[in-house]
Amino acid sequence: MTTVTLKTAKDILGMRIAGKLAADVLEMIAEYVKPGITTGALDHICHDYIVNVQQAIPAPLNYKGFPKSICTSINHVVCHGIPSNKLLKDGDTLNIDITVIKDSYHGDTSRMFHVGNVPIWAERLSQIAQECMYKAIKIVKPGCCLGDIGEVIQSHAEKNGFSVVREFCGHGIGKVFHEDPQVLHYGCAGSGMELKAGMTFTIEPMINQGKAGTRVLSDGWTAITKDRKLSAQWEHTLLVTDTGYEIFTLRTDDTISRISE
Ligand code: MF3
Ligand code: CO
Ligand code: CO
Repeated sequence: MTTVTLKTAKDILGMRIAGKLAADVLEMIAEYVKPGITTGALDHICHDYIVNVQQAIPAPLNYKGFPKSICTSINHVVCHGIPSNKLLKDGDTLNIDITVIKDSYHGDTSRMFHVGNVPIWAERLSQIAQECMYKAIKIVKPGCCLGDIGEVIQSHAEKNGFSVVREFCGHGIGKVFHEDPQVLHYGCAGSGMELKAGMTFTIEPMINQGKAGTRVLSDGWTAITKDRKLSAQWEHTLLVTDTGYEIFTLRTDDTISRISE
Protein backbone atom coordinates (compact mmCIF):
# COMPACT_ATOMS: atom_id res chain seq x y z
CA MET A 1 0.00 0.00 0.00
CA THR A 2 1.18 3.49 -0.68
CA THR A 3 0.47 6.19 1.88
CA VAL A 4 1.15 9.69 0.62
CA THR A 5 1.04 12.47 3.20
CA LEU A 6 -0.32 15.85 2.17
CA LYS A 7 1.60 18.59 3.93
CA THR A 8 0.00 21.23 6.15
CA ALA A 9 0.84 24.94 5.95
CA LYS A 10 3.15 24.43 8.94
CA ASP A 11 4.91 21.50 7.25
CA ILE A 12 5.42 23.62 4.13
CA LEU A 13 7.03 26.44 6.10
CA GLY A 14 9.39 23.91 7.71
CA MET A 15 10.29 22.28 4.41
CA ARG A 16 10.94 25.63 2.76
CA ILE A 17 13.54 26.33 5.45
CA ALA A 18 15.15 22.88 5.28
CA GLY A 19 15.25 23.06 1.47
CA LYS A 20 16.92 26.48 1.51
CA LEU A 21 19.57 25.20 3.94
CA ALA A 22 20.35 22.19 1.71
CA ALA A 23 20.65 24.52 -1.32
CA ASP A 24 22.93 26.84 0.67
CA VAL A 25 25.32 23.96 1.38
CA LEU A 26 25.72 23.30 -2.36
CA GLU A 27 26.40 27.01 -2.93
CA MET A 28 28.90 27.12 -0.06
CA ILE A 29 30.88 24.05 -1.20
CA ALA A 30 31.24 25.10 -4.86
CA GLU A 31 34.48 27.06 -4.40
CA TYR A 32 36.20 24.04 -2.80
CA VAL A 33 35.51 21.65 -5.67
CA LYS A 34 38.92 21.70 -7.37
CA PRO A 35 41.61 19.22 -8.43
CA GLY A 36 43.63 18.06 -5.40
CA ILE A 37 40.93 18.15 -2.72
CA THR A 38 39.61 14.86 -1.30
CA THR A 39 35.94 13.99 -1.12
CA GLY A 40 36.53 13.41 2.60
CA ALA A 41 37.60 17.05 2.97
CA LEU A 42 34.43 18.17 1.16
CA ASP A 43 32.44 16.01 3.60
CA HIS A 44 34.13 17.63 6.60
CA ILE A 45 33.50 21.16 5.33
CA CYS A 46 29.82 20.39 4.66
CA HIS A 47 29.38 18.57 7.97
CA ASP A 48 30.82 21.48 9.97
CA TYR A 49 28.75 24.03 8.05
CA ILE A 50 25.50 22.11 8.52
CA VAL A 51 26.10 21.41 12.21
CA ASN A 52 27.79 24.64 13.37
CA VAL A 53 26.54 27.37 11.01
CA GLN A 54 23.09 26.06 10.10
CA GLN A 55 22.51 24.26 13.40
CA ALA A 56 20.95 21.47 11.42
CA ILE A 57 21.57 17.75 11.02
CA PRO A 58 23.23 16.04 8.04
CA ALA A 59 20.62 13.36 7.28
CA PRO A 60 22.91 10.80 5.58
CA LEU A 61 25.18 10.38 8.66
CA ASN A 62 24.30 6.97 10.16
CA TYR A 63 21.21 6.72 7.92
CA LYS A 64 20.82 2.93 7.52
CA GLY A 65 24.52 2.77 8.37
CA PHE A 66 25.80 5.33 5.85
CA PRO A 67 29.11 6.50 7.38
CA LYS A 68 29.40 10.14 6.18
CA SER A 69 27.40 13.38 6.06
CA ILE A 70 27.14 13.84 2.27
CA CYS A 71 27.27 11.65 -0.84
CA THR A 72 30.06 12.27 -3.37
CA SER A 73 29.71 10.39 -6.66
CA ILE A 74 32.59 10.71 -9.12
CA ASN A 75 32.47 9.89 -12.87
CA HIS A 76 30.96 6.36 -13.26
CA VAL A 77 29.57 6.40 -9.72
CA VAL A 78 25.80 6.73 -10.11
CA CYS A 79 24.90 7.69 -6.53
CA HIS A 80 25.66 7.11 -2.83
CA GLY A 81 29.43 7.52 -3.23
CA ILE A 82 31.11 7.57 0.19
CA PRO A 83 33.49 10.47 0.88
CA SER A 84 37.05 9.18 1.36
CA ASN A 85 40.71 10.11 0.97
CA LYS A 86 40.30 9.95 -2.83
CA LEU A 87 41.62 13.07 -4.56
CA LEU A 88 39.58 14.89 -7.19
CA LYS A 89 41.50 15.26 -10.45
CA ASP A 90 41.21 17.50 -13.47
CA GLY A 91 38.45 16.23 -15.77
CA ASP A 92 36.37 14.47 -13.10
CA THR A 93 32.64 15.01 -12.88
CA LEU A 94 31.22 14.99 -9.37
CA ASN A 95 27.74 14.85 -7.91
CA ILE A 96 27.38 16.17 -4.38
CA ASP A 97 24.11 15.18 -2.71
CA ILE A 98 23.10 17.09 0.42
CA THR A 99 20.24 16.29 2.77
CA VAL A 100 19.72 18.38 5.90
CA ILE A 101 17.19 18.04 8.69
CA LYS A 102 16.02 21.27 10.31
CA ASP A 103 13.27 21.27 12.95
CA SER A 104 12.44 17.67 11.88
CA TYR A 105 12.00 18.55 8.17
CA HIS A 106 14.21 17.27 5.35
CA GLY A 107 15.62 19.16 2.36
CA ASP A 108 17.31 16.97 -0.29
CA THR A 109 19.21 18.27 -3.32
CA SER A 110 22.16 17.46 -5.53
CA ARG A 111 24.06 18.91 -8.46
CA MET A 112 26.93 18.10 -10.78
CA PHE A 113 30.30 19.84 -10.54
CA HIS A 114 33.07 19.92 -13.13
CA VAL A 115 36.54 19.46 -11.66
CA GLY A 116 38.86 21.67 -13.71
CA ASN A 117 38.26 21.10 -17.42
CA VAL A 118 35.99 18.19 -18.27
CA PRO A 119 35.58 16.65 -21.74
CA ILE A 120 32.79 18.07 -23.88
CA TRP A 121 30.80 14.80 -23.81
CA ALA A 122 30.84 14.80 -20.00
CA GLU A 123 29.57 18.36 -19.96
CA ARG A 124 26.80 17.36 -22.35
CA LEU A 125 25.71 14.44 -20.15
CA SER A 126 25.49 16.72 -17.10
CA GLN A 127 23.55 19.28 -19.08
CA ILE A 128 21.05 16.79 -20.48
CA ALA A 129 20.54 15.30 -17.00
CA GLN A 130 19.74 18.77 -15.65
CA GLU A 131 17.36 19.40 -18.55
CA CYS A 132 15.62 16.09 -17.72
CA MET A 133 15.04 17.30 -14.16
CA TYR A 134 13.85 20.74 -15.28
CA LYS A 135 11.46 19.33 -17.90
CA ALA A 136 9.95 17.04 -15.27
CA ILE A 137 9.58 19.82 -12.68
CA LYS A 138 7.87 22.07 -15.23
CA ILE A 139 4.95 19.68 -15.75
CA VAL A 140 4.26 19.25 -12.02
CA LYS A 141 0.75 20.38 -11.03
CA PRO A 142 -2.40 18.81 -9.61
CA GLY A 143 -3.79 16.32 -12.10
CA CYS A 144 -0.41 15.48 -13.61
CA CYS A 145 0.56 11.89 -12.83
CA LEU A 146 3.80 10.22 -11.87
CA GLY A 147 4.00 8.46 -15.24
CA ASP A 148 4.03 11.85 -16.98
CA ILE A 149 7.16 12.77 -15.00
CA GLY A 150 8.82 9.45 -15.85
CA GLU A 151 8.05 9.76 -19.54
CA VAL A 152 9.36 13.32 -19.86
CA ILE A 153 12.68 12.31 -18.31
CA GLN A 154 13.06 9.06 -20.22
CA SER A 155 12.21 10.56 -23.60
CA HIS A 156 14.60 13.51 -23.23
CA ALA A 157 17.45 11.24 -22.06
CA GLU A 158 16.93 8.61 -24.76
CA LYS A 159 16.40 11.18 -27.53
CA ASN A 160 19.92 12.35 -26.72
CA GLY A 161 21.40 8.84 -26.79
CA PHE A 162 21.58 8.37 -23.02
CA SER A 163 19.84 5.93 -20.65
CA VAL A 164 17.87 6.24 -17.41
CA VAL A 165 18.89 4.37 -14.23
CA ARG A 166 16.05 2.14 -13.01
CA GLU A 167 17.27 0.99 -9.59
CA PHE A 168 16.97 4.36 -7.81
CA CYS A 169 14.14 6.85 -7.86
CA GLY A 170 12.83 10.10 -6.43
CA HIS A 171 10.72 9.94 -3.29
CA GLY A 172 8.22 11.61 -1.08
CA ILE A 173 9.93 13.60 1.69
CA GLY A 174 8.96 15.53 4.82
CA LYS A 175 9.60 14.53 8.40
CA VAL A 176 10.64 11.23 6.82
CA PHE A 177 13.70 11.17 4.51
CA HIS A 178 12.27 8.62 2.04
CA GLU A 179 8.50 8.16 2.00
CA ASP A 180 5.83 7.40 -0.59
CA PRO A 181 5.43 7.94 -3.41
CA GLN A 182 8.29 6.49 -5.43
CA VAL A 183 9.02 8.88 -8.28
CA LEU A 184 10.32 6.78 -11.17
CA HIS A 185 12.44 8.55 -13.79
CA TYR A 186 11.01 6.44 -16.64
CA GLY A 187 7.50 5.35 -17.56
CA CYS A 188 4.37 6.07 -19.54
CA ALA A 189 2.40 9.30 -19.62
CA GLY A 190 -1.08 8.92 -18.15
CA SER A 191 -0.05 6.16 -15.76
CA GLY A 192 0.64 6.14 -12.04
CA MET A 193 -0.56 8.19 -9.10
CA GLU A 194 -2.18 11.54 -9.73
CA LEU A 195 -0.46 14.52 -8.09
CA LYS A 196 -2.33 16.54 -5.48
CA ALA A 197 -1.60 19.95 -3.98
CA GLY A 198 0.37 19.51 -0.75
CA MET A 199 2.49 16.58 -1.92
CA THR A 200 6.25 17.06 -1.48
CA PHE A 201 8.77 14.87 -3.28
CA THR A 202 12.11 14.84 -5.01
CA ILE A 203 12.89 14.49 -8.70
CA GLU A 204 16.46 13.20 -9.06
CA PRO A 205 17.15 11.53 -12.41
CA MET A 206 20.37 9.54 -12.82
CA ILE A 207 21.30 9.54 -16.51
CA ASN A 208 23.98 7.28 -17.97
CA GLN A 209 26.26 7.87 -20.95
CA GLY A 210 26.11 4.18 -21.86
CA LYS A 211 23.81 1.39 -20.69
CA ALA A 212 21.36 1.82 -17.81
CA GLY A 213 22.63 -1.10 -15.69
CA THR A 214 24.15 -0.46 -12.28
CA ARG A 215 25.68 -2.49 -9.48
CA VAL A 216 26.48 -1.74 -5.84
CA LEU A 217 30.06 -2.17 -4.63
CA SER A 218 30.97 -4.38 -1.64
CA ASP A 219 30.83 -1.34 0.67
CA GLY A 220 27.05 -1.78 0.38
CA TRP A 221 26.47 1.79 -0.86
CA THR A 222 28.46 2.95 -3.88
CA ALA A 223 26.38 2.39 -7.01
CA ILE A 224 28.34 2.37 -10.29
CA THR A 225 27.49 1.88 -13.94
CA LYS A 226 28.10 -1.73 -15.00
CA ASP A 227 29.81 -0.52 -18.19
CA ARG A 228 31.93 2.03 -16.24
CA LYS A 229 30.72 4.86 -18.45
CA LEU A 230 29.77 8.21 -16.92
CA SER A 231 26.61 8.93 -14.95
CA ALA A 232 25.12 12.31 -14.00
CA GLN A 233 22.41 13.33 -11.52
CA TRP A 234 20.58 16.46 -10.38
CA GLU A 235 17.99 16.63 -7.59
CA HIS A 236 15.47 19.11 -6.23
CA THR A 237 12.85 18.85 -3.48
CA LEU A 238 9.51 20.37 -4.49
CA LEU A 239 5.92 20.99 -3.49
CA VAL A 240 2.83 20.53 -5.62
CA THR A 241 0.90 23.82 -5.33
CA ASP A 242 -2.70 24.52 -6.38
CA THR A 243 -1.47 25.73 -9.78
CA GLY A 244 1.91 24.05 -10.29
CA TYR A 245 5.09 23.65 -8.28
CA GLU A 246 7.39 25.35 -5.80
CA ILE A 247 11.06 24.30 -5.63
CA PHE A 248 12.32 24.25 -2.03
CA THR A 249 15.99 23.73 -2.92
CA LEU A 250 16.51 26.38 -5.60
CA ARG A 251 19.99 27.97 -5.95
CA THR A 252 21.12 31.16 -7.64
CA ASP A 253 22.68 29.16 -10.52
CA ASP A 254 19.37 27.42 -11.32
CA THR A 255 17.80 28.46 -14.61
CA ILE A 256 14.23 27.53 -13.67
CA SER A 257 11.87 29.72 -11.67
CA ARG A 258 11.23 28.84 -8.02
CA ILE A 259 7.47 28.88 -8.53
CA SER A 260 5.65 27.84 -11.70
CA GLU A 261 4.35 30.77 -13.78
N1 MF3 B 1 20.23 11.93 -0.74
C1 MF3 B 1 19.96 10.65 -1.31
C2 MF3 B 1 18.64 10.77 -2.02
O1 MF3 B 1 18.55 11.61 -2.85
C3 MF3 B 1 19.93 9.54 -0.32
C4 MF3 B 1 21.23 9.30 0.34
S1 MF3 B 1 21.03 8.04 1.47
C5 MF3 B 1 22.56 7.90 2.08
O2 MF3 B 1 17.66 10.16 -1.75
F1 MF3 B 1 22.46 7.12 3.08
F2 MF3 B 1 23.35 7.44 1.14
F3 MF3 B 1 23.00 9.07 2.43
CO1 CO C 1 16.52 12.16 -2.69
CO1 CO D 1 19.63 13.37 -2.37
